[in-house]
Amino acid sequence: MKALSFTGVDKKEVLDKKKPEVEKSTDAVVKLVKSTICGTDLHIMAGHVPEVPDGLTIGHEGIGIVEEVGSGVANFKVGDKVLISCITSCGKCHYCKKGLYAHCEDGGWILGHLIDGTQAEYVRIPHADNSLHHVPKGMNDDSLVMLSDIFPTGLEIGVLSGQVEPGCTVAIVGAGPIGMAALLTAQFYSPGKIIMVDLDDNRLEMSKQFGATDTVNSKNPEDAVKQILDLTDGLGVDVAMEAVGYPKTFDLCQEIISPGGRIAVIGVHGESVDFHLETLWIKNINVSTGLVSTYTTPMLLKTVEAGKLVPNELVTHHFHFDDILEAYKTFENAADNKALKLIIDFE
Ligand SMILES: NC(=O)c1ccc[n+]([C@@H]2O[C@H](COP(=O)([O-])OP(=O)(O)OC[C@H]3O[C@@H](n4cnc5c(N)ncnc54)[C@H](O)[C@@H]3O)[C@@H](O)[C@H]2O)c1
Ligand SMILES: [Zn+2]
Ligand SMILES: [Zn+2]
Repeated sequence: MKALSFTGVDKKEVLDKKKPEVEKSTDAVVKLVKSTICGTDLHIMAGHVPEVPDGLTIGHEGIGIVEEVGSGVANFKVGDKVLISCITSCGKCHYCKKGLYAHCEDGGWILGHLIDGTQAEYVRIPHADNSLHHVPKGMNDDSLVMLSDIFPTGLEIGVLSGQVEPGCTVAIVGAGPIGMAALLTAQFYSPGKIIMVDLDDNRLEMSKQFGATDTVNSKNPEDAVKQILDLTDGLGVDVAMEAVGYPKTFDLCQEIISPGGRIAVIGVHGESVDFHLETLWIKNINVSTGLVSTYTTPMLLKTVEAGKLVPNELVTHHFHFDDILEAYKTFENAADNKALKLIIDFE
């Protein structure tokens, strides 16, 4: 089979590999129907995730058809259409029992990170019973792919950790796929204002279609802080979500947070930040951060089924798997290509 593989820093190749097989009784093998590329995959390619071994198949999102199951798999059978979670979980260990699947003692984020992932014709899924989801009939395939990672991440690490509540003011720094997923799921809780902040005017414009009440370009951070304070009668925001992953975007969140507010850090940070405890302590601020557990996926499936959420709105491009290298080029130059989320089709 063909598999998009990391072959060293700034290098990727489509390699011919042996089709995966069931190795443990709890495994399933899935034939991919659709996959996608995540911002995190670009971090891997750039060498920011050094634990990824050379030759590994990348990708932690997708849908497919079950090709083979181990004798210990009870919930899925050959031929079932499934949604693959970006998080693998046994459902039995200390952390799984707490719903903290991100920290499963025999899983967590391993797909396309420590074991071969979903940008390939077939993928082996450990602990299939807990790491796959049945797909409701008639649901849009592109929408389903958005539920592998970006929607649970925006909801769990942004909206729920940030405790968005009716009438509150929210700022989301970063209008990439994750920021947009946070924008769409924040609206489950009826905030009064959602201010999107980015450097890319095209993405800011798109965010208005998805429910942003205001947009701010943060090219000049001081000016951005002033604009956000003006938009909130000088109070600052109740919830600031950081969905980029750089010190300066965390700084911005610290500048705009209102007393009693919550800063929810979603971005993957590669370097340390200045945490201004000297000004924040007296403001009664909570700061949260974390890796997605995907415990909200069943709930998100229900909201999509009910038409309350339309995740495929975030899809801007389609590529056949044969053209995955071109898809990477488009995604790497997202601003020039007006790209948000792109789908890799295998059929
Ligand atoms: N915590 C988790 O479990 C988890 C899961 C998935 C992804 N992530 C992380 O979430 C972050 C966002 O992911 P994405 O796929 O949306 O990434 P992305 O790169 O597509 O989007 C980031 C956005 O930030 C904007 N940006 C860059 N610098 C900025 C600045 N100084 N000020 C304002 N905006 C700026 C970019 O224009 C872009 O629109 C990444 O760090 C990713 O690794 C975290
Ligand atoms: Zn991802
Ligand atoms: Zn576990």
